[in-house]
Amino acid sequence: MRIVLFGAPGSGKGTQANLLEQKYKAAHISTGDILREAVANKTDVGLKAKAYMERGELVPDDVVIAIAKDKLASIGEDGFVLDGFPRTIAQAQALDEALAGLGRPLEAVVNLRVDREELIRRLSGRRVCPVCGEPYHVDSKPPKESGRCDRCGAELVHRDDDKPEAVANRLQVYEAQTAPLLGYYERKGLLRDVDAVGEIDEVLSRITASLGVG
Ligand code: AP5
Repeated sequence: MRIVLFGAPGSGKGTQANLLEQKYKAAHISTGDILREAVANKTDVGLKAKAYMERGELVPDDVVIAIAKDKLASIGEDGFVLDGFPRTIAQAQALDEALAGLGRPLEAVVNLRVDREELIRRLSGRRVCPVCGEPYHVDSKPPKESGRCDRCGAELVHRDDDKPEAVANRLQVYEAQTAPLLGYYERKGLLRDVDAVGEIDEVLSRITASLGVG
């Protein structure tokens, strides 16, 4: 499997990428998770990215492209699920070039479609595991033990960029800079449009049906 999960902040990319990784063994590559880890560890990349992320703006292309290329270079036969990359035309072109160089082109781009009101509901109630990245929701996907990750037991956190001002900016940035990529992938015949409102398992079934896998 070699796919991009595409969609606005809160559309469920991380949630579904984790499920696809478990089911098909394809590596889940989240540029957001990699950047958050870099910020936490105060690496050079983290120091460059921090202020952009806090404001809900995109981290510069050169930084993110280098991260994605590095991850893709070590991907095995089971492929990858890209989550949150690409987000600009420059990133999409860099991805095409990198995959052509590896002889493993993209198979599909799945657009997770969710209305704005539901995106805001999801982001405001989201809690995430700072260790393994698993997302939860206070109403629709609570952890088994309150405040603790089901997978690794770490204490869940409320992301800084899930605060209302940053959320509004992230949604605007998505519309202005990332949504135009839908046309780019439609012209390449790679776009699969999926209604991503409904139970998490139901959305997973719609994604796998759109990809023609069981
Ligand atoms: P990133 O971490 O990629 O954030 P995002 O794209 O804004 O996406 P989210 O993680 O907010 O949402 P998601 O779609 O993964 O939804 P989730 O599954 O968690 O990026 C963060 C920042 O890093 C960016 O703002 C930018 O600064 C920087 N960055 C990252 N990549 C970059 C790039 N390529 N270029 C430049 N900068 C970059 O679900 C959300 C909530 O909804 C959860 O609570 C979940 O439990 C719940 N939920 C999920 N599915 C359902 C469902 N079906 N029904 C009800 N609730 C659901």
